[in-house]
Amino acid sequence: MCGIVGYVGPQQALDVVVEGLRRLEYRGYDSAGVALVTADGLATDKRAGKLANLDKALAENPPPPATSGIGHTRWATHGAPNDVNAHPHLSRGGEVALVHNGIIENFAELRDELERSGTELVSETDTEVAAHLLQRAYDALPAGQGRLAEAMREVCRRLEGAFTLVAVHRDEPDTVVGARRNSPLVAGVGTAEFFLASDVAAFIAHTREALELGEDQVVEIDRERGITVTGFDGRPAQAREYHVDWDASAAEKGGYAWFMLKEIAEQPAAVADTLRGRLTDGGEIVLDEVRLSDEDLRDVDKIFVIACGTAYHAGLVAKYAIEHWTRIPCEVELASEFRYRAPVLTRSTLVVAISQSGETMDTLQAIRHARGQRARVLSICNTNGSTMPRESDAVLYTRAGPEIAVASTKGYLTQLAACYLVGLYLARVRGVMYGDEVSAIVEQLRRTPRLIERTLARMDAVRALGRDLATAPTVLFLGRHVGYPVALEGALKLKELAYIHAEGFAGGELKHGPIALIDDGTPVVVVVPSPRGRNVLHGKVVSNIQEVRARGARMIVVAEDGDTAVEPYADEVIRVPQVPTLLAPLVTSVPLQVLACAIADARGNDVDQPRNLAKSVTVE
Ligand code: M6R
Repeated sequence: MCGIVGYVGPQQALDVVVEGLRRLEYRGYDSAGVALVTADGLATDKRAGKLANLDKALAENPPPPATSGIGHTRWATHGAPNDVNAHPHLSRGGEVALVHNGIIENFAELRDELERSGTELVSETDTEVAAHLLQRAYDALPAGQGRLAEAMREVCRRLEGAFTLVAVHRDEPDTVVGARRNSPLVAGVGTAEFFLASDVAAFIAHTREALELGEDQVVEIDRERGITVTGFDGRPAQAREYHVDWDASAAEKGGYAWFMLKEIAEQPAAVADTLRGRLTDGGEIVLDEVRLSDEDLRDVDKIFVIACGTAYHAGLVAKYAIEHWTRIPCEVELASEFRYRAPVLTRSTLVVAISQSGETMDTLQAIRHARGQRARVLSICNTNGSTMPRESDAVLYTRAGPEIAVASTKGYLTQLAACYLVGLYLARVRGVMYGDEVSAIVEQLRRTPRLIERTLARMDAVRALGRDLATAPTVLFLGRHVGYPVALEGALKLKELAYIHAEGFAGGELKHGPIALIDDGTPVVVVVPSPRGRNVLHGKVVSNIQEVRARGARMIVVAEDGDTAVEPYADEVIRVPQVPTLLAPLVTSVPLQVLACAIADARGNDVDQPRNLAKSVTVE
């Protein structure tokens, strides 16, 4: 939520900052702005709407050269998404420019204090308060090195809530200062140039060396002095250095019309990468980033999976696999609800937190709550350097690479793969599965990237169907067993991308109410389980299809190769390769992603940046 960039170095700051904003625009696109420290003072421009509006304004009225600057792309919280509320915000005399991600919870009281002392605020934002406070703190300090950083520390000590702040001062052209509490901020270390950003994508074209900043830290990047990190209390602090293992090309569209299309196409490789090195030929699961001991894991008597949105749907699939393989009771909860209902957590509880970004505030707060109750937390996360891995007892990284489209696709599929690994690992450690049983599933898992690839090769008919469904007012999704979370995910994708009413239901639930929604021609997408294996489920879903069809629905059926039983009742059959039941979501989810993308595209929507959304939800 909100993308932030700061730069100091020999290049034209405007170019670096705007390029960084372009790469971070998926974090919010309500408005965008920049502030540069020029020889004539601060030069700022900010515009409501997408970055293109700012681009246009800057082209019409280019600012003077500068070698330091900051930028912001906004997902609005306080105040409408207009020019005035756009960031950066300036202090009263225009000496300080500041950008912010998060929510300053005590802003009303601080605003009041500022107004009482005669400061006139021009925006409705909580951010502007911090800009004025920073200027005030700066003015009260003696001149000298580190003055802006010290002022920032003073301000941060007064703020409550979640915030990343990045600021420049008119009189300090070689310095940019940042701070973070409960909101992401990383530093990039180039050759004689330094960067601050919400995530590494902003500076990946310039450097792959990064510093992960901790909670309640202030960072100063200075052309001469390099990077200095302290706590809010001023004490020197450590920041973890790391190398980003993907390059700028991974964050480009690479010829695809949308990032989402590229990311869908990358799924076979992303799943293969997530599995690579973690499955031995002997069927052993090697989870080297899991820092919990086998003994800790043998003690686990309860598992909670917590996540939001698409990651929550991955968690729902995980429940089926984990309980089936480990026989440990497993509950899946929306992270935003978890801590508010006082869940029963002990030292023997394992909490599996799933997040692509590693920054989702609801999930982060749930992790903190769980650890506060002495439960162990294992995070499944895609983003090195993000907050969740740092705050967990163990982490299993998905290796999806950067996911830029707001709608999660390869992030989700790799989360599924990671969940299967966790389930098998637990089963092995606890001795509830024999080695050869694990080996057999490992072998099946290894085949999935190829099956995803084969699924992708058949998507022409799905795309055509998408164009055909573009005017449908509502689309329903049905599934049973692991097909149920797949149905939920299919509906979520359609809602967020196409802005069409869509709902996912468990097939068996339909007759308890939702069947009343079915009207003549209502499209209903059914995820049909394999007729092989647990074919009792297959028969039940075929019955559900008939019930819905009898009420006039247009039946779109996702069924595996060779399942002819569904054909008499289907208006359209989307074929997927045969996959063992528990692993089936790795392939059955794919056509639903393609369908949502095609419908959104046909409706003329911005597929990568759907309205009202942002990629990382860093506020509760
Ligand atoms: O970064 P996270 O995986 O924690 O994000 C969780 C959700 O916000 C995310 O999956 C969201 O639902 C996606 N936009 C869905 O496509």
